[in-house]
Order: sequence, then structure tokens, then C-alpha cells
Amino acid sequence: MQSVHKTVLLKETIDGLNLNLNNESIVVDSTFGGGGHSVEILKKFPKSKVIGIDQDKSAWGKAKEKFKGMEKRISFVNANFSELGSVVEDKKVDGIIFDLGLSSDQLENAGRGFSFMKDEPLLMTMKEDLKEEDLTAKEIVNTWEEKNLADIIYGYGEERYARRIAKAIVEAREKEEIQTTFDLVRIIESAVPSIYKRGRIHYATRTFQALRIAVNDELRVLEKGLESGFEMLKKGRRMSVITFHSLEDRIVKRFYKKLQQEEKAILINKKPIIATSEEIKNNPRSRSAKLRILEKN
Ligand SMILES: C[S@@+](CC[C@H](N)C(=O)[O-])C[C@H]1O[C@@H](n2cnc3c(N)ncnc32)[C@H](O)[C@@H]1O
Repeated sequence: MQSVHKTVLLKETIDGLNLNLNNESIVVDSTFGGGGHSVEILKKFPKSKVIGIDQDKSAWGKAKEKFKGMEKRISFVNANFSELGSVVEDKKVDGIIFDLGLSSDQLENAGRGFSFMKDEPLLMTMKEDLKEEDLTAKEIVNTWEEKNLADIIYGYGEERYARRIAKAIVEAREKEEIQTTFDLVRIIESAVPSIYKRGRIHYATRTFQALRIAVNDELRVLEKGLESGFEMLKKGRRMSVITFHSLEDRIVKRFYKKLQQEEKAILINKKPIIATSEEIKNNPRSRSAKLRILEKN
């Protein structure tokens, strides 16, 4: 199956890197996904090379058609970007991209319970060959104490009904194990007020976000990835980072600010770059995207 993911802020992200047409630039795409950013870099900069990283092994298979004739300039590495430092051989690169979160392919077809729109087992991890000790969303909702559940739903989901949802989860699991995404959606539905169910975002969005962040330790992984990415950038080169929710954006903002204060980098855009209304119309997922660009001194 081919990737159906629509790339967000494509032009803005690549222009932001300020690559030189005549240079043999090496760019790391830390979140390869459907290869949308990678392929555009290779097309726009014929001398460039891209190293695409993704924790999802199936990403390359779904995207490789796009790279016909350019195979020599793209290499795909199946890894978590927290390990950037050890998986990228070229220790100095000309640009780095992070386009965080999940691709539409994963949300729609991974079968791992990322979407509250599909009834799937509550895994929420991209890890292959899951072992007993690997954390899943199912384990969290069926075993964590009510207070810890409330804390992550509030802390990672910024969900104002976190306590009510945590209580409902504990009550439900006393009767029967929570197995699937729809089991969880029904519990959340029973816990939140009706007015919340008519809100702009689906009432399960924030709880699902919180569980995914907890299962994959996404915030710490992001901090590590940004640090290693910055480390391998050449002086005068840039990183473009796209976030989709405020917790991620805060981490990126804080990371950039610290580097600027230490005079190790400069911010290219003080305010985040966001999608145009035209892009949002064509791709509603882009409405929460924020792009921040940094240049290394
Ligand atoms: C929004 S998609 C990227 C889409 C891509 N830029 C495109 O235009 O096709 C995010 C991708 O990053 C990957 N990803 C998320 N967190 C990751 C991590 N910590 N390490 C490696 N890959 C990660 C996901 O598996 C997903 O494929």
C-alpha cells in the first residue's frame, strides 16, 4: 500500500533550511513518514542527499515509488530519532527536519490503536515484535493507579476532565478489562459532560494524545532528538521543526531560546510559521502545525 500522507508546510520547511543549490548538501529527515519532505529536497536540490529516519519500518516500503531514479541519493534508516547520534554516519550535516507525530498512514492503517475513529487493540506503539515488558496503552489504562492516570491525562493531554476520565476508567476496568480503542472511547464519552461532546475537537482527542505520549515517552525522546540533531548540524546551517500540540511546541521553543541565550544559535522566525488558510482547507491536519527554524552559530 502506498503512502496517503499529505505533507504539511512543505515549502516553508524546506525554504527554511536555506540550502544552497550548488552544494552537495546532506539533510537528515528525522521523521521520514511518507517521504514528502525528503523527496521534495531531492527534487529541488539535485546535488543533495537525504538520510530518512523513521521508527516505523513500513514507512520506506510505502514511500519508495516516489524516489524512482533518485535511489542513490536517499538512504532510509529504521530507528528512533532519539538515537540520531549513533545511526547517522555523517557526523556533520547541512539541515535537519523534524515533522512530529504520526503520519495519516499510521493513524488510518497501522492497526495499533492510535485513532479513536477505528476499533483496534489499545497498543499505541510503533515497536515491532512487542515483548511482555514493552509498555502499551492497554497496560496503562488497566493497571495504573487512578491518580497517575489523571496526572498523565492532564499533563500530557491538557484534558480538563482528566480526573473524571481517570475515575471512569478505573470503574470500568473493575467490571471488565479495557481491550480496544472503542472500549476507551465509550468510557471517555460516559465521563465528560454533553457540551464537551459538541466541541471543536473530539472528546477523546486529548486522552488519546496523552496515552500515546506516555507509551512512547515522546517528550523526552523529542528533547534527546533535538539535542543530537543540533549537535550534528554544521555551523551556519539550520533545523526546521514542525510540532502539532503545545507540549511539543513548548519543548522546541525552550530548546531554541536556551541556545540563543548561550549564543550558540539564532532564531530565524520569532513567531511560529503556520499553514495558510488554503493549506488548511486542503489538509485539515495542518491547522495545528507550527514550524520553528533555528540556525547554528
Ligand atoms: C507526520 S509524519 C512525517 C511525514 C513526512 N514529513 C512526510 O511529509 O511524508 C511523522 C513520522 O515520524 C515518525 N516518528 C515519530 N516519532 C519518531 C521518533 N521518535 N523516531 C523516529 N520516527 C518518528 C512517525 O513514525 C511518522 O512516520
